[in-house]
Amino acid sequence: MNKIVIAIDGYSGCGKSSTAKAVAKDLGYTYIDSGAMYRAATLHFLNNFLSPSNPHDVEKGLKSMEISFHLNPDTLIQETYLNGLNVENEIRTMRISNKVSEIATIASIRKELVAQQQRLGRKKGVVMDGRDIGSVVFPHADLKVFMTADLETRAIRRQVELLEKGELVALEDIKANLAERDRVDSSRAESPLKKMEDAVEVDTSNSTFAEQVGKIVHAARQIIDKQASYAGNH
Ligand code: CDP
Repeated sequence: MNKIVIAIDGYSGCGKSSTAKAVAKDLGYTYIDSGAMYRAATLHFLNNFLSPSNPHDVEKGLKSMEISFHLNPDTLIQETYLNGLNVENEIRTMRISNKVSEIATIASIRKELVAQQQRLGRKKGVVMDGRDIGSVVFPHADLKVFMTADLETRAIRRQVELLEKGELVALEDIKANLAERDRVDSSRAESPLKKMEDAVEVDTSNSTFAEQVGKIVHAARQIIDKQASYAGNH
């Protein structure tokens, strides 16, 4: 069976990661969370008191940072590692969310992480989510999805996620963080978040999780079948 590349981009906290994970599971594909890499880089810079606006610090940070994903055998979830340490929970905290978009504006950091993401997707059969996947990382992705949801819905969902991980954050603080990240991510000079013309838009404000996953899996299967019949005829 031929394998495709699925790029899912969209605003902060609109359910990209959980949707992408479920789509990958359904298709038997690998899920790659590109945002986790920017979050791990942020943790590395904060822990080592490196400033993203100082080019020497950025060079030092990139040289001393190794990010990887490893499957947790109990949960079957890919977890993020920074220099050999499992940082999956730490990178989801508000301390990181409040700094990550600043780190993600730096061109040399993006260049390094994009190259790594492209290597991870070389064999196809991947679902990757982020902000620049359909535009920069995989501009020829077979299926591009742009996810949206209204701010209130996103903030409530994120509050529940954080609470499940033991962090209680006021809704207003979460809303402010999501809105600020949307602003910085959409207006930065380097690969800003934008909906590509060839992307399918999925608004998750009023749809159930199963509906949004089903819509993307259906679109993916149509492309896989079309490619298979094209290959059969040539
Ligand atoms: O899960 P959530 O929507 O909160 O965000 P994320 O996917 O973990 O991404 C965290 C941040 O990393 C984003 O707000 C962007 O600033 C940055 N990011 C990026 O610039 N490019 C990507 N491909 C992925 C994330």
